[in-house]
Amino acid sequence: MLGPLLRYVGESEATVWVETSGACEVEVLGSRARSFRIEGHHYAIVVIKGLEPGSVTEYEVAVDGERHWPEPGSRFPPSVIRTLRPKGGISVVFGSCSVTAPLEPPYSLSRRDDRQGLGIGALYALASRLVSELPADWPDLLLLVGDQVYADELSPATQQFIRTRRHIPRPPGEQVADFEEYTRLYHEAWGHPLVGVHVLLDLSASRQPVSR
Ligand SMILES: [Fe+2]
Repeated sequence: MLGPLLRYVGESEATVWVETSGACEVEVLGSRARSFRIEGHHYAIVVIKGLEPGSVTEYEVAVDGERHWPEPGSRFPPSVIRTLRPKGGISVVFGSCSVTAPLEPPYSLSRRDDRQGLGIGALYALASRLVSELPADWPDLLLLVGDQVYADELSPATQQFIRTRRHIPRPPGEQVADFEEYTRLYHEAWGHPLVGVHVLLDLSASRQPVSR
């Protein structure tokens, strides 16, 4: 459903997060984890140990023994885990305040040119650049220091979803109000295969981040 997101990387360990459509066992590089359930959603966190410090390791994700990542026919480079070098510095890319919106006009236009314009997403632009570079040149860490989604500035898809489940004129109106609605927002923010996968070295990301 969502991910894989590479959440943590040390010198020899890493954790990979995924959301799945049902209860299952998730496997990455021979390490397995059972999914757990929250409010009808299924998640798994796979802990991978015994990696070489300073190494680059390609990985796939299998669900109940069947490969689900990379997606069939993916045009993106393989997902990798890059462990930290024992004595190397780390390069950090950081940002905040991501508004989720479709990657197309009018949302991708400048605010000057359209009232709904949010500009080109900085994280999307970064991801587009990184796919043409070698993983060794990628940042070690993506630090998201502020809002990754906005509960009160909804994309058309999330607005539509909210309209299917409650009466908008009543508070809280057009704002996300519970776990289910937040999951929709994060699906959109992290679901784009280019952003979700390749920035963060799979950390987490927003589909349409914009500086405000
Ligand atoms: Fe913000």
